[in-house]
Amino acid sequence: MTIKKVGVLGCGLMGSGIAQVSAVAGYDVTVLEQEQKFLDKGFAGIEKSLAKFAEKPEKTGITPEKAKESRARIKGTTSQKDLADCDIIIEAIIENVDVKKRTFAELDAIVKKDAIFASNTSSISITEVAAATRRAERFVGLHFFNPVPLMKLVEVVRTIATDNAAFEIAYEFGKSLGKVPVRTSDKTGFIVNRLLVPYMLDAIRAYEEGVGSIPDIDNAMKLGCGYPMGPFTLLDFVGLDTTYYITHVMFDEFRERRFASPPLLKRLVMAGWYGRKSGKGFYDYADPANPVPCF
Ligand code: NAI
Repeated sequence: MTIKKVGVLGCGLMGSGIAQVSAVAGYDVTVLEQEQKFLDKGFAGIEKSLAKFAEKPEKTGITPEKAKESRARIKGTTSQKDLADCDIIIEAIIENVDVKKRTFAELDAIVKKDAIFASNTSSISITEVAAATRRAERFVGLHFFNPVPLMKLVEVVRTIATDNAAFEIAYEFGKSLGKVPVRTSDKTGFIVNRLLVPYMLDAIRAYEEGVGSIPDIDNAMKLGCGYPMGPFTLLDFVGLDTTYYITHVMFDEFRERRFASPPLLKRLVMAGWYGRKSGKGFYDYADPANPVPCF
């Protein structure tokens, strides 16, 4: 089976990025949204991003002509029927298991039988969503990273029901987008969050236990390990509410302390200090270019 036509569910932060990289790779893309206004917003983001890439074609490989052609390959729709002849459907809608199950069950009856279904979920079980369809053997996770056009990784997730051939098609599809795919299995957090979340939570515990100040812990990990940013800067960037939510899902799955939220993280979330997006988290972003530690 060769993939020619890509369907993307959701034109938000992730869906618009997935649509963009698929179109740049030469696929015809149809994006499904709930309302036209969400498509308009997502497409404006895609156009802005493509224009930025096209400013440095020697570095990005995207000339103004290629940007134009890529944009022309993306169509928007609010009708599920327009996805009927897609070869792969990649879902990037709201992180709600019931909505994802309902949407995939509806599409299962509409989209051609040999098409592959993929979810970009960060925390919901792929197995559970796949079970809402009659094509669990052709169901995988394709977990991209934000911002999709810039981040090279895609985690390709297999469930106990995923067929080898379907998995390999999804893996090769990831590669064809210019990404580096990694193989993983359907356990909450996959590879990246399985390792990253306990590391970030440990940084908070180290601070709570007086091991170092917030900027000192950040600088230590940045300069001592060569990480692009320290754990508190990263936490504020990811969003403390998002991290808090994922600790619950991971703790629920593994029942291990390393996945449990430290008290300080809970307090910050209760106070509405979500990080960069709310202007305050471990750092205060009143002057975004010069964040000041809050503690
Ligand atoms: P978002 O809120 O930016 O976009 C979601 C979009 O889906 C919205 O535009 C919404 O109108 C649309 N939508 C909701 N229900 C729909 C339906 N039934 N049919 C069609 N469209 C529908 O969310 P975001 O951040 O793009 O996340 C989407 C998914 O990607 C989630 O499952 C999330 O876990 C996952 N993800 C998010 C990452 C991130 O950094 N934000 C990273 C990796 C995965």
